[in-house]
Amino acid sequence: MKQAWWKESVVYQIYPRSFCDSNGDGIGDLRGILSKLDYLKELGINVIWMSPVYKSPNDDNGYDISDYQDIMDEFGTMEDFDNLLAAAHERGIRIVMDLVVNHTSDEHKWFVESRSSRDNPKRDFYIWREAKDGHEPNNWGSAFSGSAWQWDETTQMYYLHCFSKKQPDLNWDNPKVRDAVFDMMTWWCEKGIDGFRMDVISMISKPEGLPDMPVGEGQLYGDTMAPGGTCNGPHVHEYLQEMNRRVLSHYDLMTVGECAGVDIPNAKRYANCDGSELSMVFQFEHVGLDSGSANKWCTDKISLPALKENLSKWQYELNGVAWNSLFFCNHDQPRIVSRLGDNSPKSAKCIATVLHMMQGTPYVYQGEELGMTNCPFGSIKNYRDIESINAYHELTESGLRQPEELLECIAYKSRDNARTPMQWDDSANAGFTTGKPWIMVNPNYTAINAKAELADPDSVFHYYQKLIGLRRQSKWKNEIVYGDYQLLAPEDPEVFSYLRRRGKTTLLVVCNLSPNNRDFVVPDGVMWDNAELLISNDETPELTKTLHLTPWQAAVWALR
Ligand code: GLC
Ligand code: CA
Repeated sequence: MKQAWWKESVVYQIYPRSFCDSNGDGIGDLRGILSKLDYLKELGINVIWMSPVYKSPNDDNGYDISDYQDIMDEFGTMEDFDNLLAAAHERGIRIVMDLVVNHTSDEHKWFVESRSSRDNPKRDFYIWREAKDGHEPNNWGSAFSGSAWQWDETTQMYYLHCFSKKQPDLNWDNPKVRDAVFDMMTWWCEKGIDGFRMDVISMISKPEGLPDMPVGEGQLYGDTMAPGGTCNGPHVHEYLQEMNRRVLSHYDLMTVGECAGVDIPNAKRYANCDGSELSMVFQFEHVGLDSGSANKWCTDKISLPALKENLSKWQYELNGVAWNSLFFCNHDQPRIVSRLGDNSPKSAKCIATVLHMMQGTPYVYQGEELGMTNCPFGSIKNYRDIESINAYHELTESGLRQPEELLECIAYKSRDNARTPMQWDDSANAGFTTGKPWIMVNPNYTAINAKAELADPDSVFHYYQKLIGLRRQSKWKNEIVYGDYQLLAPEDPEVFSYLRRRGKTTLLVVCNLSPNNRDFVVPDGVMWDNAELLISNDETPELTKTLHLTPWQAAVWALR
């Protein structure tokens, strides 16, 4: 397998709005991030992915960009950005930018021009359609509730917005759009950034004729995420290859595509080791395993055998031909320790072990390294996320769901669970701001915070630090990064165990993802004679054919 720096990296995702506020306005900012670089250095990561910091009216917290070449006022200035980039580079940390080019803000000058008249030169930068029998051109729903079409009074046509109506979709079939996007990307590359995380990049090529999509049970609109909809469209690989030729291949970058709806065959193209498109993709199957038949708003639990089967499929199928990204958390997902674990530090460490010992590039989302949990928001008034708020109103007002029951599901799944302020210490507002935070702080910050964990050698922080160190610097580095994967005991409903093999070395990973004491029978052929323990979150179990595991225990051995 070809080696590359981004295969050997560990990425840390920052959600700037909630990371660290330097000036007391209650909103995280670039200077706040700068002040925490030494903390990240200590954790051991070597790449930062920042959620968008560009100019934006913040309808979707920066994922609605009104100027790609300027910084959001609340976050600081371009000078602050340049300082941050230089300071990160001084510490050996690279910075990957969020690239949101499936859509812009409706306040972007391209769209302002586009909507001004039917014959404006920018008209075809977006997707405009005539009404069909006095209605929307098709039945597509927006990811943030309602129709995906917005009627525009001035020119008496509809425009497409797969997300909010303030996020009109760009028309990638127009070569001038591709030119403009590629020029903007080149401008950032020339500044010296180290890569892009590409927002919903699997959605840029819309299906021919924009056909109606099936309407799922309990839904009001056509499901655009189903096959044949907006994901993995007819020209997506062609456009990414063009992007690669014209921009990416000229720099030493790490690129990761956020690929909603991606399957294995498409992933093998997006993330092919031949380097013709992107370095790697985010796939979402494993974090969709607890979605009900209709949508994500349910409180079902992820079944462990299903999770094992799914993650193992991605391990086997991409081995040697493409590259996986490894994540449980990001700014769109609830906290994993509240989802797969029991909110305890021990379960947080166990879950981390499962992920960080796999083949691929691991991502740590801010606060995950502290074991930060879901937040008890209570009333819908405490939420800030457009997806959660719109879903609540649409589904209760249409009578499809009962408010109390739905609120319980939103509490479990809302994106805002990931967006509460980073818990730095036990002072007011968790040390995130001296002002009033833009979103509530999780009240458990007095117990879960960076200051306390830095002082405690047994903390979740130090466990992540060790996992990251094993992958980046230890003598087992090559096995952990490049080794072949093999799942053990696929049917076991509680223990997630696998091998990683390279040369003469085998790593044995055993994680008891349950609150029970568990005996686990080690497969034949595993010899303990030269066993070396890499990491464990509890007393090392006696090395016998049957391992006696404590609740949430994880351990990794190297065997020769
Ligand atoms: C991606 C982002 C999400 C955003 C959406 C629209 O899924 O991760 O936060 O709302 O795209 O840009
Ligand atoms: Ca601020």
